[in-house]
Amino acid sequence: MNRKILSPSLLAADFARLAEEVAGVEKAGAEYLHLDVMDGTFVPSISFGIPVIQSLRKVSGMFFDVHLMIQDPDRYLEEFAAAADQITVHAEACRHLDRTMQKIHSLGKKAGVALNPATPLSAIEWIAGDVDMILLMSVNPGFGGQKYIPYVTGKIASLRAFLESRGLSADIQVDGGVTLENAPEVLAAGANVLVAGSAVFKGDAAANTRAFLELMR
Ligand code: DX5
Ligand code: ZN
Repeated sequence: MNRKILSPSLLAADFARLAEEVAGVEKAGAEYLHLDVMDGTFVPSISFGIPVIQSLRKVSGMFFDVHLMIQDPDRYLEEFAAAADQITVHAEACRHLDRTMQKIHSLGKKAGVALNPATPLSAIEWIAGDVDMILLMSVNPGFGGQKYIPYVTGKIASLRAFLESRGLSADIQVDGGVTLENAPEVLAAGANVLVAGSAVFKGDAAANTRAFLELMR
């Protein structure tokens, strides 16, 4: 069984106090930090990029879980690898996904592949054995604070069953609209890495982190 992990998404933090916000969730016990990079092309929004992640790298020992919502991410992999522990790209944004996974691994980083809600699981069927994590989007990417799409629960269960049938142990990360209320359902379906933005950073981030960690024990 894969270890359960919380990955607070910095997108919902106060950008004027980034270092403090990161330190807050780190002290509360979160091991991963989810960093959402948006390019205004693959998704409608623009968030933050390499310089911000590099600056945070200097002040945090967390596992940097970088989610690239950018078109043709291969162009920037070396630069992101310099500050990331795991790099996740979207299947929909890569022309040669297998090559992109190989490239991330050759840079010494864990490789993840993300699927939008409407993208079928068959998109990763043949590379599932070569990835460290599969991220299932449970909202349409581009914004924090959206509502969890209910059909994704069935998709998580199908993916976990598929991985088990192949004897594979990739992490399943779920991203978008995850809250303390729906987290049990998401975990029960077979996800083991939960991303939570608003549910962690809106309000008392340390208390919210501890509540998630308690629920995931
Ligand atoms: C959405 C991002 C998410 C976002 C999640 O495109 O990939 O990581 O920050 O935020 P919440 O948890 O607020 O839905
Ligand atoms: Zn994300």
